[in-house]
Amino acid sequence: MNKQPIGIFDSGVGGTSIWKEIHKLLPKENSIYLADSINAPYGPKGEKAIIQLCIKNTELLLEKGCKLIVVACNTATTNAIDYLRTTYKVPFIGIEPAIKPAALNTKTNAVGILATQGTLTSALFSKTSGKFANNINVIEQVGEGIVDLIESGKLYSEEMTTLLKTYLEPMIKANIDYLVLGCSHYPYLIPQLTKLLPNDVKIIDSGEAVARQTKTILDKHNSLNNENNYPKIEFFTNGNPEVIEKLLGNSFRADYLNF
Ligand code: DGL
Repeated sequence: MNKQPIGIFDSGVGGTSIWKEIHKLLPKENSIYLADSINAPYGPKGEKAIIQLCIKNTELLLEKGCKLIVVACNTATTNAIDYLRTTYKVPFIGIEPAIKPAALNTKTNAVGILATQGTLTSALFSKTSGKFANNINVIEQVGEGIVDLIESGKLYSEEMTTLLKTYLEPMIKANIDYLVLGCSHYPYLIPQLTKLLPNDVKIIDSGEAVARQTKTILDKHNSLNNENNYPKIEFFTNGNPEVIEKLLGNSFRADYLNF
């Protein structure tokens, strides 16, 4: 069990930001990453379609013998994790926008959240937001187009700068002091967001929390891999492998897989 890989999937390449955190905290674990780039973005798709895509990804990771599955996609988590947990025996770790720490720590009483339409309209997000941010001015913004640009290798482009400026403007006007990144593609935008936001705005994403939770759950199941000095790490994509390799700093290979 302990040698079996951790499975990680996302609608595309963005969940590699989560994989990085997991690999940093659990460097001895074998892992398999699936980028369902051909179906990205999940954000505008309805809940039913998102669940079907999650079933496909989950079953492939289970065929490959994964001991735990990280749904490294806020849109997939907020729409499908309940279904996955009740359908499969393997433990699932999900990712949700970190609205709670932002709401608890804001001094200006205004926080921004950038996420996909699928996340912002999900029942799980409105539950969390209602619970923790009821008295806070939450400026929600759908990051339309951002995932498509990252998936097509245009992380640093004029189109991206224009989109980000447009999306941040109402948040800056509302005097936010926290920006919550509610999509696993967005941590790759942090260098650009930092330049565009006032200095005192803090950016939070959920990557580290997901890695910590992965460790906790593996530990609880007695499934941590502590012995392995040469972990097997595999990236599969049904899109262009070069996009993932570039995001990973060209230090890992990705393979095309038709799934
Ligand atoms: N990485 C996905 C997320 O965290 C991107 C969503 C999408 O495919 O629209 O939500």
